[in-house]
Amino acid sequence: MCGIIGYLSTEPGVSKKIIHNLKKLEYRGYDSSGICLLKNTKFFLKKSVGEIQNLEQKLKFDDNCTLGIAHTRWATHGKVSLKNTHPHLSQDKSWAVVHNGIIENYLELKSYLESHGITLSSETDTEIIPNLMATYDNADNIEKLKQVTCMLRGSYAICLLHKGEQAIYVARRHSPLYIAQNKTSCMVSSDPVTFGEDFDSYYALPDDCLAKVDLKDILVYDSNLNKINIRPCEIGSFEKSAELGKYNYYAEKEISEIPKVVEEILLNYNTVDHFKKINKEFMKNIKKIKLIGCGTAYHACLMGAKYIQKDAQIEAQAEIASEFRYSNPLIDQETLCIFLSQSGETADTLLSLELAKNMGAKTIAIVNVPYSSIARQADIVLPLCAGMEVAVMSTKAYNAMLTVLKLLSQHFRWLDGKPKNVDFSKLKKVNYFKSIDQIDEISDLVLKHEKIFFIGRAEDYVTALEAGLKLKEITYINCVSIPSGELKHGTLSLVDQKSLVFVIATDPDLVAKNLSSASEIKARGGKIVLVTNLDVKSCEDIDYLYKFDETEQALSSLLSVIPFQVLSYKTCVKLGFSPDKPRNLAKSVTVE
Ligand code: G6P
Repeated sequence: MCGIIGYLSTEPGVSKKIIHNLKKLEYRGYDSSGICLLKNTKFFLKKSVGEIQNLEQKLKFDDNCTLGIAHTRWATHGKVSLKNTHPHLSQDKSWAVVHNGIIENYLELKSYLESHGITLSSETDTEIIPNLMATYDNADNIEKLKQVTCMLRGSYAICLLHKGEQAIYVARRHSPLYIAQNKTSCMVSSDPVTFGEDFDSYYALPDDCLAKVDLKDILVYDSNLNKINIRPCEIGSFEKSAELGKYNYYAEKEISEIPKVVEEILLNYNTVDHFKKINKEFMKNIKKIKLIGCGTAYHACLMGAKYIQKDAQIEAQAEIASEFRYSNPLIDQETLCIFLSQSGETADTLLSLELAKNMGAKTIAIVNVPYSSIARQADIVLPLCAGMEVAVMSTKAYNAMLTVLKLLSQHFRWLDGKPKNVDFSKLKKVNYFKSIDQIDEISDLVLKHEKIFFIGRAEDYVTALEAGLKLKEITYINCVSIPSGELKHGTLSLVDQKSLVFVIATDPDLVAKNLSSASEIKARGGKIVLVTNLDVKSCEDIDYLYKFDETEQALSSLLSVIPFQVLSYKTCVKLGFSPDKPRNLAKSVTVE
């Protein structure tokens, strides 16, 4: 989603630095971009719709500026247009702003500004911010920023320039913002992956805080303007990762990294006792567990709930974060809430964490980005160790989530006095990509059919959901994922000769039931692809048998999703779309 860069340097030519770093935010998803440079005491503004390189084309000159801010916009208020692209200036051209998040009371504030003779030129909620700054005539700019942020409702990370100063003003609420400084420059960014080249450490601006950043100082204030000290974070290998290497796309690279990621998790959890704090005392009185997330992370929650209920026999339920918040949840000190998030910044998941904490629940975060807001706020953090994930379609992070959840469910079992019953070492012998060459043929089948279905029971139903999500998000093919047992309660009426149905079967106890669902589909003219690791003899109802590698039953959900991740990727490339940046979607959804 939207991205922010601000850069102040002793060296002129800052636009190149800014564009270079703005490009590192491309992976988050955007539809337009813009930059504002301070030239003497005047703002110089350039914007463009589409790829950042369009903006770069407009900057083909040597600028002699030392200060600028820039933004990648993912449209929320107002369509994709130059007019709505950030940065925005105040009407008197004294302030410039870039903003991530949503100002919920902007209509009210717009009327207020109009009553002061100010006409806004865009449809955004953002343009009110520099104009509010300009309407205050207090001497001190940080005081003005405090007054303005007090008026804003909603979420924001804002970065402002004043025409008379070589400084960057920043503020945040529920949307991340980071600051880094070295001897010759300072930089503000909404994502620390941008800092790796020029800085050794960075500061995470705390929620509801403001700061003034210049070449001498980083002055951080709380919402009452008390000065506060914050500790720097070291830039680690995570922030420096994300080279595409020999791959054509990040999606391809990230799927291929799955075996390495699973191995890394097993090694890391063997070496570091991440479960140390999840001890008998912590689990005392816990009556139920909620697993909360969005998108692919929500599917991992569904799988995790099944693991925990089966392995540890504790009541466990998965919740979609955006629904959880409005479900009048029944949670208290006897509830453990586990939050799953690759980015650790998904707004609904973060706000659900805050809600759960306020209601007294114990909290665990399972996150990939170590410095993220969710990681900072949960009682206990379990790292995913997946390395940076760039493609919008989450793949390796999903498999990492399942691996950590399986380790956790085994830990809960062990705390309850039962011996662990999964042998993770079996994964060492597994070929994660066995039969993967067949996916090309299956992808052709997908393209020949009008209606695509994914069905399964128990854990395989969760895989069916994730398979469907992967296919629709990057190929734009409409598809339905449904529990096998629900087919005949409605969806079977859609099945005809134009239908291709993926039947996922990894549980020996349920395979017969899955095959009878296949027969029901066959009888209505549908084509069947059976995806299994069991020793199923191909029968006449099965049109295509796809067999992935066998492993312990308890670990098969880690493998069964991979053919579908590859299928979506291959189909997407055949259709000529970008698997890394699907239309309308963003990697990190930092607004509700
Ligand atoms: C976005 C991404 C999905 C992701 C979801 C949750 O929609 O496009 O791939 O699953 O957010 O993200 P999180 O970072 O919380 O796992």
